[in-house]
Amino acid sequence: MSERHITITDNKSGKSVDLEVKTGTHGPPTVDVSGLYKDLGYFTFDPGFMSTASCHSQITFIDGDEGILLYRGYPIEQLAEKSNYLEICYLMTYGALPSPNQLENYSSMIVHHTMLHESLKTFFNGFHYDAHPMAIMVGVVGSLSAFYHDSTNIQDPVCREISAHRLIAKMPTIAAACYKHSLGEPFQYPRNNLSYCGNLLHMMFSVPTEEYVPDPIAEKALNLLFILHADHEQNASTSTVRLAGSSGANPFACISAGIASLWGPAHGGANEAVLDMLHEIGDVASIPKYIAKAKDKNDPFRLMGFGHRVYKNFDPRATIIRKTCHEVLEKLGDQSNPLFEMALQLEEIALQDPYFQERKLYPNVDFYSGIIYKALGIPTNMFTVMFAIARTSGWVAHWMEMISDPRQRISRPRQLYDGAATRDYVSIDQR
Ligand code: CMC
Repeated sequence: MSERHITITDNKSGKSVDLEVKTGTHGPPTVDVSGLYKDLGYFTFDPGFMSTASCHSQITFIDGDEGILLYRGYPIEQLAEKSNYLEICYLMTYGALPSPNQLENYSSMIVHHTMLHESLKTFFNGFHYDAHPMAIMVGVVGSLSAFYHDSTNIQDPVCREISAHRLIAKMPTIAAACYKHSLGEPFQYPRNNLSYCGNLLHMMFSVPTEEYVPDPIAEKALNLLFILHADHEQNASTSTVRLAGSSGANPFACISAGIASLWGPAHGGANEAVLDMLHEIGDVASIPKYIAKAKDKNDPFRLMGFGHRVYKNFDPRATIIRKTCHEVLEKLGDQSNPLFEMALQLEEIALQDPYFQERKLYPNVDFYSGIIYKALGIPTNMFTVMFAIARTSGWVAHWMEMISDPRQRISRPRQLYDGAATRDYVSIDQR
């Protein structure tokens, strides 16, 4: 038993158990309840995981009260200012910042995995032109497992690494193909001489008939958004990847499950929902009406891009994105962007409102990200796809961490059953 423990006594049976209190590098002490059922015959009940640490992890730390976000110990503000997305991918996967040589080798490895199998491209034709790109992405990423039998032995660290590289490399190619499919334009092959984000812009916006040079403003903005979206510890999609992977499922299927989870409006789908909301509000004069709707418990409307399960002070990513939004719009000569003006007003009004103050509801990462994507010419239904590309680095890092953890077991929650008590079957003629 560790130095610190919590004793639980059942006041019915008088039986007691000591539960070990574990401490991490940062964060609250964590009570190990894993033996509670065996020792005392009880389950714990925590729907929505309000107080539950589902695993050990060394990847990302969040302090929601202080607005702190660290990737492998490095503050997000420093990474956003000084790093680039591929370096973050390396950091996520290997746990340390790369040397110049390591980064060069890693980048070369990634660009040599960016192409899609030509047969995979035919999958896109099975989707109607107006299919949501997230729907296509869930299917196409899941189908990658049909192409890479050579790397699906998840017990082999080399196979895991190759799968991680393939996923990080191919996500932009798949995302761009989703977009091109919706336009009816030919898919563009990746270009190995471009940066990760420059290549994505090339595959989305170039056509075979014309020269295309990615706009450095767009490249820089995408790089920043991808860094900010790279990981967020045990969020819904990452937990989905871990849960799916805990059964030994192949990595492509697991990431596909993560994409499906990300799509929901309470999670990554919020960036698209924010833009829809701003369009629906229409003008600054209508903001009070929508604030009232958000506060009305009989109205399902929520202020999209507001609130977070973990951040109860501010979301440090939102602070960085708001500043970048100003800069990007200014550089694009779009300072008086009406959507941005409305978002700023909406934020100001909401933050002065006791409803939002009492519940500690602040703008989250997605409140401003969609405005930047929109300004870069990326259509609304591609916003969550952009999030998925960025989050892939986090998903694969968590998947690799989980599979290589010797304590790893299949994730299998229990339940508080409150359905019908045992009863006898009644034959149909007697019902
Ligand atoms: N607008 C109005 N009221 C809200 C909002 C909102 N956006 N968010 C939370 N509340 C209220 C909620 O009604 C509840 O009030 P009460 O205590 O009176 O019942 C209280 O605040 C606590 O909310 P909750 O739903 O219990 O909090 P949660 O931690 O379960 O949900 C959330 C977190 C992000 C799902 C929620 O805040 C939300 O739906 N926000 C809008 C969607 C959104 O922006 N999602 C993106 C999250 S950040 C990107 C990512 O990492 O995925």
